[in-house]
Amino acid sequence: MSEKRPETMQRITTPELAEAFIAEQVEAIKAQVGDKKVLLALSGGVDSSVVAALLIKAIGRQLVCVHVNHGLLRKGEPEQVIEVFGKQLNANLVYVDATDRFLDKLAGVSDPETKRKIIGKEFIDVFAEEAKKQEGIKFLAQGTIYPDILESDGVKAHHNVGGLPEELDFELVEPVKFLYKDEVRVVGKQLGLPDQMVFRQPFPGPGLGVRCVGAITRDRLEALRAADAIVREEIGKLTPVPWQYFCAIPDFVSTGIRYVNGKGERYMGWAVVIRAVNTVDAVTATVPEIPFSVLCTIRNRIIETVPGVNRVLWDISEKPVSTIEWE
Ligand code: XMP
Repeated sequence: MSEKRPETMQRITTPELAEAFIAEQVEAIKAQVGDKKVLLALSGGVDSSVVAALLIKAIGRQLVCVHVNHGLLRKGEPEQVIEVFGKQLNANLVYVDATDRFLDKLAGVSDPETKRKIIGKEFIDVFAEEAKKQEGIKFLAQGTIYPDILESDGVKAHHNVGGLPEELDFELVEPVKFLYKDEVRVVGKQLGLPDQMVFRQPFPGPGLGVRCVGAITRDRLEALRAADAIVREEIGKLTPVPWQYFCAIPDFVSTGIRYVNGKGERYMGWAVVIRAVNTVDAVTATVPEIPFSVLCTIRNRIIETVPGVNRVLWDISEKPVSTIEWE
């Protein structure tokens, strides 16, 4: 598919330009959709959130948003989608907690690409099942943005998520398909979405699944989620904030010491890894300096509050040779 951004299209850099874009898209969506229903997989990422907010503005509850929680989301993410879309914007929101389904399928699987495939396939299956439960859907909205068209022949680059089954091959609604990421953010801000959503750092489709190294276990995944929230909170206070910053948890244990009734006792625990990178295109990446005091705050908070973790490491590897993610 070769779809080109019109050469005359102005870059959306101001609230006024965003407002004009929103007004134009609201009309275009109304004209395309009429009184029919539209389905959207709402991850809570910037692109799908902006598309959801645009469609809600245009057609209200004719939009059915499906938020699939695969159990690999970051702390607080599903709650935020429910709060912003379900409550504040009164969206027609279907929340599917598919955690058990995903984690059961992933149990014992350690190969990274197999993990990605399982997560991608399961996501499509869960979404398709929810889609079939809905009556009268005629359109599928997608958060395709212009780099997706330039880089992957017009398919939303979820890397590993394939297409929907044929019987769910709806007509597409893609209101931000000619926008670059920075423009999507300006539009999102103008639509009143919270900064946490609009300026969210990139997060891979397979989520914490590729950061919980090797075969995922529920306890190690919970430790990762808790440690990651601390890393994001503390590094998020830096200026400038790195491009991507998160936590990974390798699948090894190392010795720790704890004191029981004043007596030292050795035990095995997990290590968590702090990862923060700067990049323009994610093809190469550098590692920004993090003040030692910030690293110590992160270490103390993790060691004091995250069960099972007895070591905190800082990954200073650049890309190449190390990838940004641990898997
Ligand atoms: P790597 O680890 O390859 O990551 O240096 C480059 C960028 O891509 C993201 N990433 C993914 N995104 N599905 C995604 O949607 C994936 O399987 C995936 N793997 C890596 C990563 O977070 C980084 O921004």
